[in-house]
Amino acid sequence: MVSFLGVLIGLICPIVLLFKFFHKFWWVPSRVKYVMSSQGIQGPPYDFIYGNTKEIYTMIKRSTGSAMDISHSMFPRIQPHIDLWLRLYGKNVVYWKGPQPELVVTEPELLKEIMSVREISMGKQDMGPTLTKIFGGGLVFSQGDKWAKQRKLATHVFNGERLKNIVPALIESVDMMLKRWKDEGTEEKEVYQEFRMMTSEVISRIVFGSSYEEGKQIFQKLGELSQSAAKSLYKTRLPGFGKILNIKEDLETNKLVADIRDIIMKMIRNREKMMNSEDEDGSMTGYLGILLKAHHDNDESYKLSIQDVIDECKTFYIAGHGTTSLLLSWVTLLLGIHTEWQEKAREEVQEVFGNQSPSSEGLSRLKIMGMIINETLRLYPPAISITRKVFKETRVGNLVLPPNLNIQIPSLALHQDPRIWGEDAHLFKPERFSEGVANAVNNNPGAFLPFGYGPRNCVGSNFAINEAKITLSMILKRYRFTISPNYVHEPVQHLTLRPKSGVQIMFQAL
Ligand code: HEM
Repeated sequence: MVSFLGVLIGLICPIVLLFKFFHKFWWVPSRVKYVMSSQGIQGPPYDFIYGNTKEIYTMIKRSTGSAMDISHSMFPRIQPHIDLWLRLYGKNVVYWKGPQPELVVTEPELLKEIMSVREISMGKQDMGPTLTKIFGGGLVFSQGDKWAKQRKLATHVFNGERLKNIVPALIESVDMMLKRWKDEGTEEKEVYQEFRMMTSEVISRIVFGSSYEEGKQIFQKLGELSQSAAKSLYKTRLPGFGKILNIKEDLETNKLVADIRDIIMKMIRNREKMMNSEDEDGSMTGYLGILLKAHHDNDESYKLSIQDVIDECKTFYIAGHGTTSLLLSWVTLLLGIHTEWQEKAREEVQEVFGNQSPSSEGLSRLKIMGMIINETLRLYPPAISITRKVFKETRVGNLVLPPNLNIQIPSLALHQDPRIWGEDAHLFKPERFSEGVANAVNNNPGAFLPFGYGPRNCVGSNFAINEAKITLSMILKRYRFTISPNYVHEPVQHLTLRPKSGVQIMFQAL
């Protein structure tokens, strides 16, 4: 009897596994493909197991394999696959990341509809193994009640009054960088690295209430972790074999994750010791302080686990400095090329602040600088697309979207579309934003999304803009700058849109 059962289980198990395998890699993709094509949405053919990942990988490798002339036409270089498929199959395209379908939407009407459906606005895509290691259960990818709880805490950090209070710390961090520049005395600077360090210093203060020195190790280790995540972005893991084949990569990333956890835990222990001795008015500095209060909250609906606290610190650290340092690098590059706009911005800074340090009231009066920042975010958006997920079957306009469908709104493609922005879409022309964003997008609400949209839009956008305006104001007052002959134009996507070999700028003290 026992041996008969054993034989039966031995027979059934492989059949169940085989069934699951074909269900995931053949049946579901075939069904989704049928559902989408019967509603007029086409795309490249599904390649068994891998979907389109191999061709995406090859196309990107080819398009970003060498430097380009200094032009701002980024989309065909950074997303050659989307560029090709939109031309071949129409304004909305479905393609395959392994067996996972992803709908790319650029048609204005459908975009408007999708952006207005709440269930879709809230749904984030699964992260994949490496991004899970980076962000864990932090705000960027969390869902449901947990997201609502985290979002409330994060919004609290960047509310109007707190944002004002952060300004002196921002000025101090930029000042430290500029003092170092003065002491070093060199004319040429690689500003991407400079801004990464400076924004890291700022985010260390905001998250941990500590200086860059204390958060430095996290900064370095998270950098290594992001590089490893970027490498595996378009790799498909074979079912069952992934763990064996990627064992070296996994061991490395696991070690980095454990190290980061240890460093943050040490900071948490130190902060816990201080907690009782500090007063209640918020001098329990840093986001970590707010998170730890939530960890100790007696109300279960507000309570965060210690793992949540760690993940949230990592999330803010990554989301908070990588993107802003890129905005600053690209804007410095553009002003180093278009020096007439640099002069206009300098005059405005002089008019608004005179010989004083930047103040939060003055920042909103920097209109030209606002236009320059918007134009930079249009041409070089640090986050090149917005992603969502359909969790249950949803009707959107005339379409019925199946559950488990990923959605991609390709910001970079939309930001550079000549049908929206005109034939000069690839040129740096900040004057497009002179009458505000709504006017610049010409009745296309999804055409300019550097910070996303809806309830899941970027929680740090106002802070990032303030940080950029303060940094630029302080640089413009002390230096005139131009692009260095050593600069090589090689933008690549490593999770975000980055300059592969940095941004070399020549500075001349005023
Ligand atoms: C130029 C700088 C920045 C850019 C371009 C940027 C861009 C974005 C984008 C595109 C999203 C996704 C929005 C969506 O899906 O609709 C996002 C989300 C987010 N950003 Fe930023 N970001 C920047 C700075 C910051 C800063 C400084 C912080 C924090 C200190 C931050 C924290 C976050 C968080 C926590 C989310 C997730 C929000 C949620 O899902 O509820 N970002 N950001």
